[in-house]
Amino acid sequence: MIRKIVTLPDPVLRRKAVPVRKITKRVRKLIDDMAETMYEAEGAGLAAPQIGVSERIIVIDVGQGLIPLINPKIVSAEGEERDVEGCLSIPGKNAYVTRSKKVTVTGLGLDGKEKRYEAEGLLARAFQHEIDHLDGILYIDYLTE
Ligand code: NI
Repeated sequence: MIRKIVTLPDPVLRRKAVPVRKITKRVRKLIDDMAETMYEAEGAGLAAPQIGVSERIIVIDVGQGLIPLINPKIVSAEGEERDVEGCLSIPGKNAYVTRSKKVTVTGLGLDGKEKRYEAEGLLARAFQHEIDHLDGILYIDYLTE
């Protein structure tokens, strides 16, 4: 089911999302809906707060297949890279943002097992952007000009 994507200034985007305690049928359905909503909006990633659910879940697809991740965490980061970024919750805008070039991300997959991703480039950027959403951080917070 396609959900409505919330946009600024909806306060849910600024809330710290809570961890998922158990991967229930509801959580799996939520992830299905998030993926469907992301593809329909032609986005590369979506975090649960963007559909109004303040829980630590993200979905990403940068063209290498769908990555759903529950309670994701960046466990290491290195380098710097500056590139253009946008956000489905801030429609019609984009800007250059400096992010870590490489990140290692862990979290739970839909099967409840721990997953680990070594990401760089666009995928690393997407992980950082989406995990920020879970802490109420938006890319515009990094802009200085
Ligand atoms: Ni975003």
